[in-house]
Amino acid sequence: MSAAIEGSPNACEPLLRVEGLRTWFPIRAGILQRTVGNVRAVDNIDFEVAAGETLALVGESGCGKTTVGRSLLRLVEPQAGRVLFDGVDLCTLSKRELIPYRSDIQIVFQDPMASLDPRMRVRDAIAEGMRSFGIGANAAERTERVAALLERVQLDPAWMSRYPHEFSGGQRQRLCIARALAVEPRLIVCDEATSALDVSIQAQILNLLRDLQQDLGLAYLFITHDLGVVRYLADRVAVMYVGEIVEQGPTEQIFERPSHPYTQGLLSAIPSTDPGRRGISARVIGDVPSPANPPDGCRFHPRCPQAFERCGRERPPTYFAGEGSSRCFLSDPAAG
Ligand SMILES: Nc1ncnc2c1ncn2[C@@H]1O[C@H](COP(=O)(O)OP(=O)(O)OP(=O)(O)O)[C@@H](O)[C@H]1O
Ligand code: SF4
Ligand SMILES: [Mg+2]
Repeated sequence: MSAAIEGSPNACEPLLRVEGLRTWFPIRAGILQRTVGNVRAVDNIDFEVAAGETLALVGESGCGKTTVGRSLLRLVEPQAGRVLFDGVDLCTLSKRELIPYRSDIQIVFQDPMASLDPRMRVRDAIAEGMRSFGIGANAAERTERVAALLERVQLDPAWMSRYPHEFSGGQRQRLCIARALAVEPRLIVCDEATSALDVSIQAQILNLLRDLQQDLGLAYLFITHDLGVVRYLADRVAVMYVGEIVEQGPTEQIFERPSHPYTQGLLSAIPSTDPGRRGISARVIGDVPSPANPPDGCRFHPRCPQAFERCGRERPPTYFAGEGSSRCFLSDPAAG
């Protein structure tokens, strides 16, 4: 659908490049509902996703992962930064200019029941997006395409007249994937898309996502708590902590040689072969600070086992090394 941006794509440009993205939510109080503070849900983050690649976004609950996904399409409005899709900054577009990009980027959420209208037959739910984006010349063509999509996600096309409640949890997530694919996206944001499913069903959905990526060249921004899933699916990983990305790098590097003490803490909680212990943060002691009032200096310093005096008063910059980056003074090459 992004043929609209003629001439702009650059062969070296990643599909998605996010620069300095900031999405804060105002906290209002009093009769006048004056702004008394801000929840700094996403606070100046940078990342890229290449075509056909999977970037996993991980971090504890409330660190801003969902807000990142929603900010891309301005379902929540960022206050600063750029979201370059194919070289076009989506933040500068009018709502009307943004419409074609709503098919390029699709979001699949954790709870398929909440994102499927219970009164709509599967055929109509999947064809709805096609109709709005002018895909398929007529109803018959769209129905044919719905059948092909159901087959693509390994559901029986004969079920297209059924309602969502007639499907199991895993099947409903397949329906959501089919609906996303119907509008020919190039990037799918999977926001905890497999988290609510049983482990065996989860594995099937992950395999499906992987096959689809190979066949269609899709890129994924894969938001999850489950580091086992990250290792299986992601090419690169970005670790978020209280609105910031504290470490990024290729998956193997992150798992084998994590630089940031927060990433080290997350990973120490998971022997990756043990699905029962794949939860996040078991070994990061203490509570997550509020994004409305993040600690001064390094945001991780109250919980960091390696913190030293400077960490409480100065905010570390992001240090780059090879293909990775880390926001920790200990990663400063000049510090030796
Ligand atoms: N619409 C909103 N208005 C006000 N605050 C919000 C809004 N959406 C999110 N927040 C706050 O922003 C912060 C980040 O929330 P977000 O949902 O992005 O985190 P998350 O990493 O996806 O968490 P989880 O892992 O639990 O899904 C939280 O403190 C949350 O309460
Ligand atoms: S900057 Fe200091 S507190 Fe922050 S992660 Fe590094 S060592 Fe820990
Ligand atoms: Mg979330």
